[in-house]
Amino acid sequence: MKSKYKIGFLGMGTVAQGVWRHLANNHAEMSRRLGADYELSVACVRSAAKKRGVEIAPERLTENPEDVVSNPEIDVVCELMGGVETAFKLVKKAVENGKIVITANKAMLCEKGAELFALLEKNPKSQIFFEASVAGGIPIIKSLREGLVANRFSLIYGILNGTCNYILTRMERENATYEAVLEDARRLGYVEADESLDIDGIDSAHKAAVLAYLAHGRWVKLSEMIVNGIREIRLEDMLWAREFGCRIKLLASIKRDSETGKISVAVYPALLPLSDVVANVNEVFNAVALEGDLVGRTVHIGRGAGQNATASAVISDIADAFRALNSNAKYVSCHASNGVEMMPLKDIESSFYMRLSVKDETGTLAKIASIFASQKVSIELLEQKRHVNANEAWLILTTHKTSEFAIREACKALEESEQVLEKPFVLRIFEDTQA
Ligand code: HSE
Repeated sequence: MKSKYKIGFLGMGTVAQGVWRHLANNHAEMSRRLGADYELSVACVRSAAKKRGVEIAPERLTENPEDVVSNPEIDVVCELMGGVETAFKLVKKAVENGKIVITANKAMLCEKGAELFALLEKNPKSQIFFEASVAGGIPIIKSLREGLVANRFSLIYGILNGTCNYILTRMERENATYEAVLEDARRLGYVEADESLDIDGIDSAHKAAVLAYLAHGRWVKLSEMIVNGIREIRLEDMLWAREFGCRIKLLASIKRDSETGKISVAVYPALLPLSDVVANVNEVFNAVALEGDLVGRTVHIGRGAGQNATASAVISDIADAFRALNSNAKYVSCHASNGVEMMPLKDIESSFYMRLSVKDETGTLAKIASIFASQKVSIELLEQKRHVNANEAWLILTTHKTSEFAIREACKALEESEQVLEKPFVLRIFEDTQA
């Protein structure tokens, strides 16, 4: 056991600066809480000359990542640079060099997790901690790995993207435009460098992959998931969802079929009943609801993005890293030793909300109804709403449970109909299968 552990950083962006500042400004107290003294030894950055929001002595900055990952002095490597390929190459090297690695990089974990965790098996001195990769400040990784270690999970669902939740909340509350709210989210440091990752649901999908791995032992690829984002949601959808007693949230869901044991992983904007606690989690907050076979339901809520919340998660990993260094403690990496199979898309069922822009003329309703009937999709509720254009109308409807395949076929047929003026817009209605 060393008297002092040395921490190196790859990347010095918003989150890394938060970690550095907190550990530098509260050194004595943080050493006590983390169980060891430490030195913030070196940070690898793209440009050492760049001005930063945290003071770092010039001799502690480098532009050469080898000074971190291959530096024999460094015990803990914090990878906070983002991106996939370069980050993976460096993390791999750090693992091979026996370092403890901390990463917030959900994209890298999702795409390279299988390879990375196989590599860890061959490098027993190394470990990877990734609390900050999912749900910002909520200690959800630790909860799954430790507090809930006894459980198998039939359902995990929640809000995993702070940016989208912030946008949807403010649009609904203030009638604000999507662009104006996105600008505020950028200013607050919530948004990924590539904003499409947030808005198109990919960031949530990366995080869902991490949770699915912990719960079920399989690294699910993006191509194996349903992934939809929030771009096409209109203010009207939010108001109409309320008429059905629901709120629209970008949800991630990981379901395990109790009969076949197969899982489905999906990210989509969904109508969630207002009675569900997750529907009332707003702004940048994330929520993860878990259904464990022993514990039953637990719901975890906290800030899902932002400098301090994410820094809090990284520092909790530093505590685990020091514990591992002090005692050679090993952590459970996932709940299942053999990965599960994926549920085929045709077996995934849900009820749906649909917004249709149609010609407001005699016979429209009958034609639309016959399309649904021909695709064997059963309508549950249907309402016509006034459109701003005189000869048009909105049809807002919900369906009974139907398969993903049937709803896609129905949408194709609707799009081909002369009565339908825009591509049908569809949202799933989230059903809490365990409630
Ligand atoms: N862009 C992410 C979000 C940051 O909004 O949730 C945290 O992963």
